[in-house]
Amino acid sequence: MCGIVGYTGADTAKSILTDGLKRLEYRGYDSAGVALERMGDAGSCELDVVRRTGKVAGLESELVARDDASTCGIGHTRWATHGRPTQANAHPHVSCDHRIAVVHNGIIENFAELRVELEERGHRFASETDTEVFAHLIEEAYAREHDLMAAVRAACTRVVGAYGIAVVCADEPGVIAVARKDSPIVVGRGERGSYVASDVIALIDATRDVVVLEDGQFARLSPDGIEYTDAEGACIEPEVTHIDWDIDTAEKGGYPDFMLKEIYEQPRVVRDTLVGRLSPSGELDIDELGLSFEELDLIDRVYVIACGTSYHAGLIAKNLIEGWARIPCEVEAASEFRYRNPIITPSTLVVAVSQSGETADTLAAIRDARIKGAKVFGITNVVGSPVARESDGVIYTKANKEIAVASTKSFIGQVVSLTLLAMLLGQVKGRLTTRQVRMLFHELGDTAAQIQWILDTQVEAVHKAALACRDAHSALFVGRGMGAAISCEGALKLKEVSYLHAEAYAAGEMKHGPIALIDPGFPVIAVTTRSPTYDKVVSNLKECEARGAMIVAIATAGDEDIRAIADHVIYIPPVRDAFSAITATVPLQLLARDVAVLRGCDVDQPRNLAKSVTVE
Ligand code: F6R
Repeated sequence: MCGIVGYTGADTAKSILTDGLKRLEYRGYDSAGVALERMGDAGSCELDVVRRTGKVAGLESELVARDDASTCGIGHTRWATHGRPTQANAHPHVSCDHRIAVVHNGIIENFAELRVELEERGHRFASETDTEVFAHLIEEAYAREHDLMAAVRAACTRVVGAYGIAVVCADEPGVIAVARKDSPIVVGRGERGSYVASDVIALIDATRDVVVLEDGQFARLSPDGIEYTDAEGACIEPEVTHIDWDIDTAEKGGYPDFMLKEIYEQPRVVRDTLVGRLSPSGELDIDELGLSFEELDLIDRVYVIACGTSYHAGLIAKNLIEGWARIPCEVEAASEFRYRNPIITPSTLVVAVSQSGETADTLAAIRDARIKGAKVFGITNVVGSPVARESDGVIYTKANKEIAVASTKSFIGQVVSLTLLAMLLGQVKGRLTTRQVRMLFHELGDTAAQIQWILDTQVEAVHKAALACRDAHSALFVGRGMGAAISCEGALKLKEVSYLHAEAYAAGEMKHGPIALIDPGFPVIAVTTRSPTYDKVVSNLKECEARGAMIVAIATAGDEDIRAIADHVIYIPPVRDAFSAITATVPLQLLARDVAVLRGCDVDQPRNLAKSVTVE
């Protein structure tokens, strides 16, 4: 959460910083700010700190009045943790003497003690944030060390928590000091200078060869180059990662918003996630598996741990893993799993699902599971992310960068990847033959074309349903089996982008309470695809219809009977129940987005949310 950028070189810093911040806005957007180095009247360097509440566009307008002279600076876009989203709490934060400015992504857990200690020594705080202690700690250390890197290293020894920081000091013009622990930092050298950001997306225009800083590593950026050091200040040569995806990913490409663009990318995500996964002899090939087939054969319990949308992908995987491999599988919110005492043995497999690969609760849960002896398998969209690095094996979801805060294409990538894992476990356990795996694999691949069919033919039907939901106060999403899991994701999508209250319920449970909510016109969105429980769901819908509900059915193409009870029908192509989540989720994503647009909401950046949740 929060995005940071920094630039030092030959070009104008302010536009590089604001362009970078706009690309990082998905990480937080309640306030933004920059610190630019400028020559003061006395000929010495000064820090010009500009901060604004709201989105980066507001900051950019404020900066129009500033000249282009500054060639070094740092910037930040914030998702508030400690302190309200006010101008005073916006980053950068500065030292008492205004000579040092800091931008920070993460959380300083011991900031309260540090603040008391620093105040006792005479420091004055201007914000309610945890970050500000960094500025004062560095100021003190700089007074002793007279070297910015040494001062930053010293400050880092005092803080407990997570940080990715970039620091400028008016006494060392042109230098940006960077440090990282548990919050992402990427550094790169372009033809016109040196760059730092929380995510490559902010520096990909300048370079495709980047260094993803490891915990405990530091970087000193100057116009001439970048030096990397460890916690003792010794030089290191970090690994360089080449970015092979295209900048088009970061542009809307003619779509009105990223969410819609990303929904339309889903056929490609299915195809890319499956490329090279089936060997010519018909064996599943997961080259980053990290676990031998012998180790997998010993697995007798699976936990899928994740948060939010990724958790819903886990609910779908439970059906597949138990169905095909007959291994008991539990799905848990990472934020719960880590605080209880789950039964873990060396034959437990923990599958961590995370688009960003950096969700704090998911990371903490896998660390805990490893200590307790579990094997850990990661499913993530971000190459080299902490989840990937800290897992025994990994499947990458190949969704490419997801910009809209609400996950769509990465969810589909997760479900496809988890399906592969379930098939593999089924094969290793001897419950699926090679022939069956090959057949399932090809059917799984067919879902790409099925999604395309939905996108090509069902948009109008979705829009009519969205118009019918627009003015509702609340909605229920129902289904059974796979349909119940899909409903959870449908309800979350609607809530987060349209701010309409929505709840998912197993259709058979409706009569045990939620049916009391239904009055004439109440929207019930039902997953009624052809499945073993189709008739049961239809009976449950009749109970809703009898009470006046407005029913939107996600049904299998060719099912005309459903029209007798549903006010709106959105079709998906016939598909095996095991794969229905991959297709039936798509109309629910479209519906959520459409309702949000009709209600005038910002679908890409819903209020109060951030794409990457690095706080607990
Ligand atoms: C919802 C959404 C969130 C994330 C959750 C976990 O659309 O995107 O619920 O799924 O914050 O994030 P990751 O998958 O990055 O661990």
